[in-house]
Amino acid sequence: MKYVFPQNFFWGSAASGPQMEGAAAVDGRKPSIWDHWYNIEPERFFDQVGPENTSNFYYQYKEDIALMKQLGHNSFRTSIQWTRLIPDGVGEVNPKAVTFYNHVIDELIANGIEPFITLYHFDMPLSMQEKGGFESREVVNAYVLFAETCFKLFGDRVKYWFTFNEPIVPVEAGYLYDMHYPNVVDFKRAVQVAFGTTLAHARAVERYHELALDGQIGIVLNLTPSYPRSQNPADVKAAHIADLFFNRSFLDPVTKGEFPADLVEIIREHDFLPEYQLNDLEIIRQNKIDFLGVNYYQPRRVKAKENLPNPEAPFMPEHLFDNYAMPNRKMNRYRGWEIYEKAMYDICINLRDNYHNLPFYISENGMGVEGEDRYRNEEGFIDDSYRINFMKEHLKWLNKAILEGANCHGYHLWTFIDCWSWANAYKNRYGLVEVDLANHYKRIIKSSGYWYKDLAQNNGFCID
Ligand code: BG6
Repeated sequence: MKYVFPQNFFWGSAASGPQMEGAAAVDGRKPSIWDHWYNIEPERFFDQVGPENTSNFYYQYKEDIALMKQLGHNSFRTSIQWTRLIPDGVGEVNPKAVTFYNHVIDELIANGIEPFITLYHFDMPLSMQEKGGFESREVVNAYVLFAETCFKLFGDRVKYWFTFNEPIVPVEAGYLYDMHYPNVVDFKRAVQVAFGTTLAHARAVERYHELALDGQIGIVLNLTPSYPRSQNPADVKAAHIADLFFNRSFLDPVTKGEFPADLVEIIREHDFLPEYQLNDLEIIRQNKIDFLGVNYYQPRRVKAKENLPNPEAPFMPEHLFDNYAMPNRKMNRYRGWEIYEKAMYDICINLRDNYHNLPFYISENGMGVEGEDRYRNEEGFIDDSYRINFMKEHLKWLNKAILEGANCHGYHLWTFIDCWSWANAYKNRYGLVEVDLANHYKRIIKSSGYWYKDLAQNNGFCID
């Protein structure tokens, strides 16, 4: 075995409730912003496929969990949908949702699969969005109650909790770049949402620790290392600014209890500081995570700004740096993301050296392409060797970082079964297992699924 991982390493995959459960309007669940957005603007979704078309885990969780076991999983992350558990955002708990999530958690444990549970995966209840989403303290309070409800209902069995998945994404996609509902373009409001999210996170961590349950709580962050085009000080400064906005804006407060001073300074200079109460900062300072989930898909390459921004254009982080398309970079052209495996190592070493070597695991990494059907072999399953190579190349760097002391405890692939991917719907298939939406949600294991099973069972892999 060339690449061996530590004992008790978590091998598994990640998914989320809204992307896999289906049953969107069943058993009391109420709409999230995704259901609403699809209703009013279906053309914003790839092939106009909406959130009701997921792989139907709500009905097939038993078979799916059996498949996870078959493919070597000892852990699996999914999320509890706020809209299912507390359909109005606050108030009544939905007993059918409690039954469903209890069944899922129990079934995972019965199959030797550790449940990792996310509380919020981009899925704001519509009723809460109408109150202002995380710009509103009322919604922050409602989120904390939702979190507490989950801890009390399921915390006897769930030992690994995540307050948010990729909290920067709803901020940038929903309030800056017109990629998610509510399609606002307003930097000040984006800052307010980011602050409200950080506060909601810290208060949920506080509540979890007060309950003294036997488990740990963290957050899942998508870390995108910022690489300067060159060592020219102007490029290096630009990369530093991008790092502040897109990584350290959440990484620093959740691990160190403080926002980076130079980020605060930039925001103050442009007059975008959020509204807050003094005690908020103390809550953020006091409530640090127990461990971190790291999603890694793509790096960010940055150069100094070439042109002055239009003074009338809405302020964007990109007013302070330019993204840089390095010539001949390796791309997943279906997603428009660069593939740069060494960033996996760089993230780990950064956490080791600059974040007290805190415990973490890779909570998402993966690759999806359009038209996977072209890889179907004579036996009728998809031979996705591109995905196997992608995992190997990233795992090699992860392995090196662990050998050099990174405190990494697991690796989860995105994702288990092809899932509905927000505005990209089913464009790019990410799963170890194919779902045939046209044929009663039939599942077919891909080559990567068989490879993953060997990887997990051997706790490592060889090079060919
Ligand atoms: C991560 C999210 O950002 O990337 C997932 O946590 C998402 O929810 C995944 O599905 C893949 O991204 P996309 O946009 O291709 O679906």
